[in-house]
Amino acid sequence: MKILVTGGTGYIGSHTVAELIERGYEVVIFDNLYNSKEEVLDYIKEITGVRPVFYKADLRDKESMRPVFKEHTFDAVIHFAGLKAVGESVEKPLFYYENNIAGTVNLCELMNEYGCKRIIFSSSATVYGDPAEIPITESCPKGTCTNPYGWTKSMLEQILTDIHTSDNEWSVVLLRYFNPIGAHESGLLGESPNGIPNNLMPYIMQVAVGKLPELGVFGDDYDTPDGTGVRDYIHVVDLAKGHVNAIEKVTKTNEVNIYNLGTGNGYSVLDIVKTFEEVNNIKIPYSIKPRRAGDIATCYADPAKAKAELGWVAEYDLRKMCEDSWNFAKKRFK
Ligand code: NAD
Ligand code: UD1
Repeated sequence: MKILVTGGTGYIGSHTVAELIERGYEVVIFDNLYNSKEEVLDYIKEITGVRPVFYKADLRDKESMRPVFKEHTFDAVIHFAGLKAVGESVEKPLFYYENNIAGTVNLCELMNEYGCKRIIFSSSATVYGDPAEIPITESCPKGTCTNPYGWTKSMLEQILTDIHTSDNEWSVVLLRYFNPIGAHESGLLGESPNGIPNNLMPYIMQVAVGKLPELGVFGDDYDTPDGTGVRDYIHVVDLAKGHVNAIEKVTKTNEVNIYNLGTGNGYSVLDIVKTFEEVNNIKIPYSIKPRRAGDIATCYADPAKAKAELGWVAEYDLRKMCEDSWNFAKKRFK
C-alpha cells in the first residue's frame, strides 16, 4: 500500500513515516519545510534503511502539490501538515486560517480530482475546550477553543465531515491527540522547536541542557492533586503506531470515525519534572508563575474506543518518555 504523508518531515510525521516503513508500507512525503529539515529523510533512512520519496510542496499552492498526485496513486493520505503554535496563532490568525484551513481545502480538492478519498487527519484534544467530562470520551461535546490554532482543528473536523456527507465514497479518520512528548529511541528523530518553546517538555529539555535557567510552572492553585495542570502525555512512537493502525480503518470503511489517542493517565506538571529528574539524574530548577491564559486544570483521555476498534494501546510509560526526550536533547541541543 502506498501512503501520502503530508508534513512527513515534522515531529509526529517523521516518527509515523519510520513506523509505516517498518510495517511494509510505501511512503511518499510532502512538506514545505517551514518547521522541519530535509535531513530528517537521512535519519529515517538510518533507522529503516529506506529514504522515503520527498517533494517540497506547499498546501497553500495547489500546483506545487499536483506532481505528487500525478506521479503516484495513493491508498490513503495521512495529513499532518499544518501550523501548531498556539501563541503565534493568536497574533497571526489569518496566517493560521489560510495555511491550515485553505491549505487542507486545496489538498482535498486534489484528492477528489485524483480519486483518493481516504484521509487520516491530525486533530487535537484542544477541540474539547474545557472538557465536559474526565476522562474524555469521543462523545464528549466539542467545546469553545481559546485560540485560532484550536479553531482550525475544530473547523477542519467539520469540513472533513461535510465532505463525507456530500460524497460517501470519502472515508475520514479524525485522530484527537493528547500531549505527544518523547522521541525515537535512536535519538535521531524528535522535536526541536524554533526559539523559546511554549510546550512543557521542550522547555524542560532546554533547561536540562542549560540553555534556559529554570522552568516556570504555570499555576499551582488548580483543582488537581498537587495544584498544577494535569495532562495525558503520550510517547510520540505510540502516537505514530496509532496512525498505522488507523490505515486499516480508513481503507476498509466509508465513514467518519473519531478516536482519542492518549494513554488514559493524567500527570501533573510537577510529576513530569520529578520523573524527568529521577530518570535522567538531572535537576530541573523551577518556580511557580501565574496561570497561563487559556489553560485548563485537567485533560486526559478515555482511550477505550481506539483499543476496541483500532486494536491500539499506548505502551510506553512516563519514564520512557522522559528518557527518550533527554536522549534526543543530549544529541541535538548540547
Ligand atoms: P510539526 O510542525 O513538527 O510538523 C508539521 C509539518 O507540517 C512541518 O514539517 C511543517 O514544515 C509542515 N507544514 C506546515 N505548513 C505547511 C504547508 N503549508 N505546506 C506543507 N507543509 C507544511 O508539528 P507536529 O507536532 O509534528 O504536528 C503534526 C500535526 O499534528 C499538526 O497538524 C499539528 O497541529 C497536529 N497536532 C500536534 C500536536 C502536538 O502537540 N505536537 C497536538 C495535537 C495535534
Ligand atoms: C498546548 C495547547 C494545545 C496544543 C498542545 C500541543 C494551549 C492552551 N494548549 O496544550 O492547543 O494542541 O499544546 O501543541 O496552549 N506548562 C508549564 N510551564 C511551561 C509550559 C507548560 O507549567 O513552560 C504547563 C501548562 O500550564 C500545562 C502543561 O504544562 O498545564 C502542559 O502544557 P503544554 O505542553 O503547553 O500543553 P497544553 O497546554 O496541554
